[in-house]
Amino acid sequence: MQNGILTLLQPFSIVPVAVLNTEEQADAACKRLLEQGYASMEITLRTQRALDLIRYVKTHYGAQLCVGAGTVCQPAQAEAAAKAGAEFLVSPGQTEALVLAMKNTGLPYLPGAVSPSEIMQSQERGLGLLKFFPAHLFGGAAALSAYASVFQSVRFLPTGGIEEATKQDYLSLPNVVAVGGSWMLK
Ligand code: 3PG
Repeated sequence: MQNGILTLLQPFSIVPVAVLNTEEQADAACKRLLEQGYASMEITLRTQRALDLIRYVKTHYGAQLCVGAGTVCQPAQAEAAAKAGAEFLVSPGQTEALVLAMKNTGLPYLPGAVSPSEIMQSQERGLGLLKFFPAHLFGGAAALSAYASVFQSVRFLPTGGIEEATKQDYLSLPNVVAVGGSWMLK
C-alpha cells in the first residue's frame, strides 16, 4: 500500500501536527512531544520556513522523532519536502499529479479524501489509507463509522479538531489506524 504508510504510522497511534515558524518554536515543540512520549511529528508546509524547519528537526531530533511533511498540496512540494529530509508526506487532499509526485519520492505518503466519491477515486488510484481532514467538520467519528461498512478495505487517519477528550472516539473505530492533531502542542 502506497509505499508503507500504514506500517509507518499505525504504531504511533497519534501523529502530532505542528505549524512552525522558527527554530525556537521547533525546539519547544520537539521537547514537549518527547516529554509526552510521542515519537512522530508532522510539520505542515503552511509557513515560509517549513522546509528549513523540517531539515532542522530532522537533524536535531531525527533520532527520536519520525518527521513528516504535512499540507503537501502542490506536486513540487512533495519533492522539496523529501529533499528537506521528510520521512513521510501528508496531504489534505489529492490530485492525480500530486499522488504521482508523492509516489515518485519513494516515501510513505498519505493523501486525503472525505466524500464517498473521493474515497472511491482513491481506491481506483490504489490508495488504501487516507487522511480525513478536517475530521470534525466532515462528520467526525460518526461519518467514519458509517464508512466502515461501505468502504471495508479503506483505512483512515483523521485530523482536524480532534482533542484529547475526543481522540478515543476515533481510535476505537475499526477503520481508523491513528489520529493526528495539534492539541498536545497547545
Ligand atoms: C492538520 O493539518 O492535520 C490539522 O491542522 C490538524 O488539526 P488541528 O490543528 O485541528 O488538530
